[in-house]
Amino acid sequence: MELSSEMWKHLPYLYAHPGIISSVEEVARIKAEGYQQVFVKTENSDGQSDEERLDHLIRQREETPLSTPRTPFSEAIKTASVTYESAMTYAMRIVNDAKLGRKIDYDTAVETASAIVDSAVSNPDTLVCLSKLSSFDNYTYTHCINVAAIAVVFGEFIGMSRDDLILLGTAGMMHDLGKTTVPSRIVNKPGRLTKFECEEMKRHPVYGRTILSKNRAIPSKVLVAVRAHHEKFNGTGYPDGLTRKDIPAFARILCLADIYDALTSDRCYKHAILPNKALGIMYGMRDQDFDPTEIQLFIKCLGIFPSGSFVRLNTGNYALVFESNAQQPLYPKIKVIMDKQMRPIKAWDIDLSTQNPEAPDSVEITECADPSDYRQNLMEFMLPQ
Ligand SMILES: [Fe+2]
Repeated sequence: MELSSEMWKHLPYLYAHPGIISSVEEVARIKAEGYQQVFVKTENSDGQSDEERLDHLIRQREETPLSTPRTPFSEAIKTASVTYESAMTYAMRIVNDAKLGRKIDYDTAVETASAIVDSAVSNPDTLVCLSKLSSFDNYTYTHCINVAAIAVVFGEFIGMSRDDLILLGTAGMMHDLGKTTVPSRIVNKPGRLTKFECEEMKRHPVYGRTILSKNRAIPSKVLVAVRAHHEKFNGTGYPDGLTRKDIPAFARILCLADIYDALTSDRCYKHAILPNKALGIMYGMRDQDFDPTEIQLFIKCLGIFPSGSFVRLNTGNYALVFESNAQQPLYPKIKVIMDKQMRPIKAWDIDLSTQNPEAPDSVEITECADPSDYRQNLMEFMLPQ
């Protein structure tokens, strides 16, 4: 702060201490008292910035995997489905509000993100599974929720605080709201975008921040993450071409979740890529799009066969992965649901990690299968009957 010694005597000591300034009126009052500059403090109560904290968590998690007791999938999936559905309703509402120029409802965002965090803590595989198998098929809305859910699952995996997870989930739900400002003929164009269309599309993170800024209750961490969710590790991203050290922590996580969901979703111009292949592609994007350590941990978090993967077994039967196994990624928990001809059979569960691999009847995953070959809603197999 810049202030004359004369002023110092008259100023209330409040402003000599850090605090939150939450209204335009307050800014005007401070200006009227003669202050010309302020320092904006971005570090947290533990003295670390978000970026330092993320680096610290990632280093820690590389060495010691977090082992949190989880609620069994079959129990946790009921609550997670309800959460996912209400998150979808919220996503529809904010996309509509953004289109109409209305203020974005932040209180419901916090409630929704808190429920997503609860599910991630209870059993993260439920959210990963729902993000791939839920029957909602409108990409605009499912993508908002999937990015929020996957980002929160990863944040929880590396040990982020609950408060940060809620902000991260909120940023995930809101990350693409700026697309509502881009003409829909560009957003939904099935073919290649022209140079002009591409430039316009690349403005959506900036538009998103502008939309969210109308609600002053939305924290700056969310605004900053939304603006930077397309920045890349090597500086070739947009809108600011930031490099690794300058990309905000939340934006780096959103970017991982965003690309994973985009690759594994059906779009008007491409078919969904299988989850394990998508992770392989993302690993190939290390040093360009992603920090190599962060993408490795992301893969560790989701597993070689992420929850919701449809797989073929050495027995010829087909199964769904419902719980990944961070310690033994090739041996997740699976639900056998179809015979060799892909006809539904009475389902049963197998924990592949508890089998003796030498036993002649041991079951193994031979490959990931394409669920789009089979048009039934696979999520029905995962929900309690
Ligand atoms: Fe985006």
